[in-house]
Amino acid sequence: MIYNVSPGNIGKKTTILVIDDDVSFLFGISRLLAKADFNVIAATEGISGIARAQAGHPDLILMDINLPNMTGFQVKKALESDSHTQLIPVVFLTTINDNSEINDGFSSENEYITKPVDTTILAARIKSILHKTKTANLPNPLAEIDQTTSFDRFKQWAYSVEMLDERAIGHTCRVANLTLALARSLGIVDEQMLDNIYKGAFLHDIGKLAISERVLNKPGPLNDEEWDLMRHHPTVAYDMLASIDLLKDALDIPHCHHERWDGLGYPNRLAGKEIPLAARIFSVVDVYDALTSKRPYKEAQSETETLKVIHSLSGKQFDPAIVENFLENFEALKKWAFQEPE
Ligand SMILES: [Fe+2]
Ligand SMILES: [Fe+2]
Repeated sequence: MIYNVSPGNIGKKTTILVIDDDVSFLFGISRLLAKADFNVIAATEGISGIARAQAGHPDLILMDINLPNMTGFQVKKALESDSHTQLIPVVFLTTINDNSEINDGFSSENEYITKPVDTTILAARIKSILHKTKTANLPNPLAEIDQTTSFDRFKQWAYSVEMLDERAIGHTCRVANLTLALARSLGIVDEQMLDNIYKGAFLHDIGKLAISERVLNKPGPLNDEEWDLMRHHPTVAYDMLASIDLLKDALDIPHCHHERWDGLGYPNRLAGKEIPLAARIFSVVDVYDALTSKRPYKEAQSETETLKVIHSLSGKQFDPAIVENFLENFEALKKWAFQEPE
């Protein structure tokens, strides 16, 4: 049987699937998890648990070992053989007596939590396991990058930054397309140059791979030390990629996208046309997309409001000529960037 315990597996909340045949325990733990701000979905045996995992994409599964029909260990094996569910971390709920009947399945590679469950410990364990999983799945570009690394591989890293950041799903692709459209609108026709602009826009935040998830996902404002780390990401990108032939001419955006027209940006406080053209184009698009996107800490701003903000930053943060082109051609740019050609 399948239960919906908390309303909706939606938004960016962490979703936990609980599989346990003890219904009163199931409801109790689900209520505790919901109180600790997790979304909870649940099932009472293995088959429906697997179906729930496939359909609900939980971030983590909490599962009793001693289930009817299939043991928890067998369910875990089934989940690992399916590409949709194989990366979901599983934590077993154990009682003192579990080791008698199904001794064989116990392994030091599994994670266990003992019943009865203490809510504070449970929430802390879930967070630490999720953190470990995310970090383990992170690429290690410094170790992997060489002259043979493909652009697709770099794109995967850009997506993993987006995932890690968790605030910007879809942002990378949108800004790359809109930057290309704006570059064309400004009269850039050289295909090689356009290709470099596209690549650079796609990889603009790749230097964030060097920033810890704790800083990237910090719910409150960053302290001075954390801001220093954050401000380092354009330099990291440059240092990481400058020797790679495929990208050495595409680094103006990753390196200079936080510079400002008035010279108050970072990392090098460049001003005006000292800032490479590609970065001046990109920074308008980046801010436009950030303001019009919903993030966990803010609502999306309307397009009209956002265009007013962009206009107000002309000559301060942005190159006035680029802002003028962006605002004048805004509808056409969106069409070029996001719609199929007619
Ligand atoms: Fe950035
Ligand atoms: Fe961005």
